Amino acid sequence: NDQKRKQLIDGLELLTKFYHYLLTTAKYGSPGMHYLENRGFNAEMIKQFRMGYAINSWDAVTHLLQKRGVNLEQLERVGLIAKRGFDNKYFDRFRNRIIFPIFNMRGQTVAFGGRTLGDDKPKYLNTPESEIFHKGNILYGYHLARQSIRKKSQAVLLEGYVDVIRAHQAGVTCSVASMGTSLTEAQAAALTRMADTIIICYDSDTAGIEASFRAAEMLQGNGKIIKIANMPEGLDPDDYIRKFGGERFKSDVIGASQTLMTFKMAYLRRKRNLSDEGDRLLYIEDVLRELTKLDRAVERDHYLRLLSEEFSISLESLKKQQYQMYTRVQ
Ligand code: CTP
Ligand code: MN
Ligand code: MN
Ligand code: MN
Ligand code: MN
Repeated sequence: NDQKRKQLIDGLELLTKFYHYLLTTAKYGSPGMHYLENRGFNAEMIKQFRMGYAINSWDAVTHLLQKRGVNLEQLERVGLIAKRGFDNKYFDRFRNRIIFPIFNMRGQTVAFGGRTLGDDKPKYLNTPESEIFHKGNILYGYHLARQSIRKKSQAVLLEGYVDVIRAHQAGVTCSVASMGTSLTEAQAAALTRMADTIIICYDSDTAGIEASFRAAEMLQGNGKIIKIANMPEGLDPDDYIRKFGGERFKSDVIGASQTLMTFKMAYLRRKRNLSDEGDRLLYIEDVLRELTKLDRAVERDHYLRLLSEEFSISLESLKKQQYQMYTRVQ
């Protein structure tokens, strides 16, 4: 079993080198290289993240693997190549795609994500879950971010491959990605083990914002500081940095990130019309309901005070109201 695992890891390493060679060799890689240059990725990032390019061929990879005597059946089982039904021939899974090797915590390639150069679907094709790849156990970019996370005791959690690469290029080297919006317990544990402060900066769309709440709730506890960064609607970190630059990302997004509660209050507020008295009461109830979820009394008190000041309601009646709501759901 250990030997099988080693064979697989070796096969993946060979492919990582091969895709990277194709990307960086003009004769083969120019479509991929132009794509990455257009998106503004520099050579250093391409090297660090070992990005690659799968040429538009059905058998370039299969052919290479065959020539090197790699066990094709084994690679098919982990989804690196596929088998045609009608003649049982192996063929390449990735064609004309940018390749993002996905590394385990030790920096070994355990899977690939392949992005189309155009608009065809799926945008990302990933190798499937296998005995060596459990997506939910991996944070993309972790092995490159680890040192910086430890040093600052701070981690920045993003959604996507390109967000992480862009953030690193901008100098925010403590960035990792959950590869989509559903953070798992294993990913959350890896983050809280390493850092006291975790800043969530998911895409600024509905899916991303709602996922930020779930992620923040998962990360909370154990005395960690969990914050959520705010970006203009519709942008993701990669878009933001391209548009406004890395310095503004650091100061206005990461630097201005808010606690979960403050972020939630702003979000709840946007859903109501606070000049309407009825809506105002609903907003206050929304906030009181959220406050019961906080486990630190000082924190609850802090936000109660803010509410009390903003709406000129005594702390006493807010607490009374909250108590009523709380006992009603018990
Ligand atoms: N993802 C995936 N498979 C998909 C779509 C998304 O695995 N079909 C994961 C990838 O890790 C991706 C992340 O979810 O990087 C975020 O998805 P999305 O925001 O849609 O893509 P971006 O990372 O923004 O990619 P790009 O900027 O290239 O469009
Ligand atoms: Mn997204
Ligand atoms: Mn998207
Ligand atoms: Mn995105
Ligand atoms: Mn994007």
